[in-house]
Amino acid sequence: MLRLGVNIDHVATVRQARYRGRGAGEPDPVEAARICEEAGCHGITAHLREDRRHVQDMDIQRIREMVGIPLNLEMANLPQMLDFAADLRPQAVCMVPEKREELTTEGGLDAVGQRTTLAPSVQRLHALGIEVSLFIDPLPDHVAAAAVIGAPVVELHTGAFAEAFRCRDENGVHKRLDELCAAAEQAHALGLRVNAGHGLDYRNVVHMHRVPHLHELNIGHSIVCRALIVGMHRAVTDMLTLLSPDPDVL
Ligand code: PXP
Repeated sequence: MLRLGVNIDHVATVRQARYRGRGAGEPDPVEAARICEEAGCHGITAHLREDRRHVQDMDIQRIREMVGIPLNLEMANLPQMLDFAADLRPQAVCMVPEKREELTTEGGLDAVGQRTTLAPSVQRLHALGIEVSLFIDPLPDHVAAAAVIGAPVVELHTGAFAEAFRCRDENGVHKRLDELCAAAEQAHALGLRVNAGHGLDYRNVVHMHRVPHLHELNIGHSIVCRALIVGMHRAVTDMLTLLSPDPDVL
């Protein structure tokens, strides 16, 4: 079965809409993470952005202390974030690109161009026992660069696939799925573990069963949106059903 990491960033987005700069407030992303855990998801993902627009340092520290399943900390390759991760020791770190003006993580890391800056950061975290993944577009050069950098895991960016699906662009969906399949094959052949995420939802996620060697999907926005209507527990169990080997049971 595909594993599910739930990204709780947008629980914090709702809180920040009202309580930015005012300390604690609701909804609490840590409470959401605990419900995700109870519902059977396999990990919690959270992105601590440089501008702290949603998740705050304290959220990450509390998740680390109060949630039993692994924490996958998404972060930019910045010295202060590396120090934060070194102190916190999450089970996993996913290195992502970060631009202040973007709404969400719009593209993968430039693993080719940033090879020399990424490699020492990956090494430092790896030496501390933290499993590092690189969030990359599903392109051959970037997969090859991830292996050279020494990351044990890649997370393939599914945003272009999700966008083609949203636009009902059938050719686009096939092309993007082919790219994802080829990138997953290549990564697996290079000895890398393969995760994927971004823009996956309750309608498009079943296509991920066609991508070989996938280990874990990281899904945030669609689960948090559904949780507003049916509650977090049900939103997670519905997604887990779709990730099980026989999604036709729904
Ligand atoms: N994976 C990574 C690396 C991300 O940056 C994000 C978005 O924060 C996700 C997965 C989840 O994307 P979505 O919220 O669209 O499900």
